[in-house]
This record gives sequence, structure tokens and C-alpha cells, in this order.
Amino acid sequence: MALLRMRTAQGANATEIEKKIKRGNALRQGSAWRGSRGLAALLAVVVVCVCAAAVWLYVSSLDSEITETLVRQAELVSPRPRVYSVPCSEDYENYKRYPGCTPLKCGRAVTDAVVTREESQVLKRLAERGLALAGSDGGASILDLHSGALSMGKQFVNIYRNVRERIQAEIAETFGLDPTLLYLTKPTFFSRINGTIAKTQHDEYWHPHIDKVTYGSFDYTSLLYLSDYGSDFTGGRFIFMDDNGNRTVEPRAGRVSFFSSGTENLHRVEKVEWGTRFAITVSFTCDPAHGISDPAIP
Ligand SMILES: *[C@@H]1O[C@H](CO)[C@@H](O)[C@H](O)[C@H]1NC(C)=O
Ligand SMILES: *[C@@H]1O[C@H](CO)[C@@H](O)[C@H](O)[C@H]1NC(C)=O
Repeated sequence: MALLRMRTAQGANATEIEKKIKRGNALRQGSAWRGSRGLAALLAVVVVCVCAAAVWLYVSSLDSEITETLVRQAELVSPRPRVYSVPCSEDYENYKRYPGCTPLKCGRAVTDAVVTREESQVLKRLAERGLALAGSDGGASILDLHSGALSMGKQFVNIYRNVRERIQAEIAETFGLDPTLLYLTKPTFFSRINGTIAKTQHDEYWHPHIDKVTYGSFDYTSLLYLSDYGSDFTGGRFIFMDDNGNRTVEPRAGRVSFFSSGTENLHRVEKVEWGTRFAITVSFTCDPAHGISDPAIP
């Protein structure tokens, strides 16, 4: 009797164990099933990501108005400038020629080795301060460094003169000029551009223009960028509009882009989509009569 009870107990135990085994199998099957569902979901996510990336690549390749990017933001052009020669236009023939200065070679160049990022940061802070005082309501604002209304202080005056001299030396070396025959000219200004729609014609920086046509005295134009394309702002790339295509330079803080000012360098700036773009335009003439001096200590 006792034995029987033991057997029954054993039998009961056996069924329990069987049940447990079955339950275990069911659980394992379930988790295998859930596992493969997870895999499917992961696969779906991967497929969606790949599709999104493909669409993004396709959309960015639709950047069809841009033929070539001359210099990307992430590149560091140093120590030598990257130079692109272009045949000179006839614009210079309408003006008196100054040997050793008037462009005989024309072109455009970019360098990241003339102004440090630290200097560009200091200049940007000064630009922010100056432009805040100027109290413009956005779009494109400029702060003329020779308006007389400006008093940026000693720090600005010193950095500016120093940076201007180095840019001038770089232009002279690149174009084979005598640096002492180049003169700073008007207008020379800070610009701040954000995504606000321009209200005045003056703001419409995105229209193609030729510096020598707009300002007869310009012979060489330089731009010193104070913010980074892609992280401080999007849009706002500089575009050289050639007959056979549009070529861009992506702004980078501390980057100097310079070019002969004639029709050979017809250009525009893309509309800024997001963020704020700061730059300084520093222009040079060969005509001493149009020369101006650096901003002085107020
Ligand atoms: C542009 O800057 C102005 C002045 O600081 C500001 O009022 C405006 O909201 C800004 N616009 C955008 C789109 O950030
Ligand atoms: C250059 O850009 C302008 C407008 O920005 C556009 O009308 C023109 O088709 C572009 N040229 C080329 C060759 O893509």
C-alpha cells in the first residue's frame, strides 16, 4: 500500500515533470518565435534607414545648380592656398592701370592658414556685439567698418589691422603683386545673414553680382568667414557663377577666400536656411585715390 502510494506519487511527479518539460518547450518555441519577430523588426528598421539614406543622397545630388565644390567646410587648406585661375575679364580696361597691382592674372583662392580660428572667434564676438547695437531686424545686416559711427575698441582695431595686413600679403603673393601697391578700400564690413526674408534690395545678397561693376574701385575682394557652414548655419554657401557651371566655397571659421573683382568672378551667396552666418568683407583697390586707412582707435 505504501509502495503503491509511492508509485502514485512518483507517477504524479512524472506527470508534473512532463508538464514542466512541455511548458519549457512551449516557452522556448515562444521565445524563438518572438526572437524571429524581433529580427524582422530590426530588418525593417534597417531597410527603412537604407531607403532614407538613399533618398537623402538622391536629394542632395539634386543640388543640381552646383557643378563643383571647390573647398568643403571640413577641409583644411594649409599652408599653401588653393588657387583657381580664370581668364581676366575686360572690366579692368575701363580703368587706369596700375603696374604691379592691376590684375594681369585673375582667379580665386582659398586659404585656412592666414587667420586662426581663435582670431575668427574674437572677431565674431565683436561682430555680434556691433551688430546687436546696430539693431537690424535680421535678414542680411552689415556693419560698415568705416561708417565713423562704429567704435569697436582697441582689441578690434589691432586684430583687424593685423588680419588685413596678412590677407593683403597673401593676395599679393598669390597674384604676383607688390603688396605696398594695394590699398584697403570701401566698403569693408561685417555681415550677418540669417534665414529672415530680406526686406530691402540691399539685403538680396543671393542675386548674382560683380564687385568691380558694383564698386568701380574694387580690384581684389576678400572674405573672411567667421562661422562654419553645416554647424553654425546651412545654406549660405558662396557660389562662383561661371558660364560652364556653378562652383562653391563652403564657409569655415577663419577661412579666407579672395578673388579678382571683375566679371570673371561673377558670384552670389545662397540664401541662409538655418542659423546665422558671419563674415567680413575686406576689399582692395589699386587706385591710391580710393585707398582708406584701417579703422582707428576711437
Ligand atoms: C534673424 O535675426 C533677427 C535679429 O536678431 C531676428 O529677429 C530673427 O528672428 C532671426 N531670424 C531667424 C530666422 O532666425
Ligand atoms: C547656376 O546657378 C543658376 C542659379 O543659381 C542656375 O540658373 C544655373 O542653371 C546654374 N548653372 C548650372 C550650369 O548648373
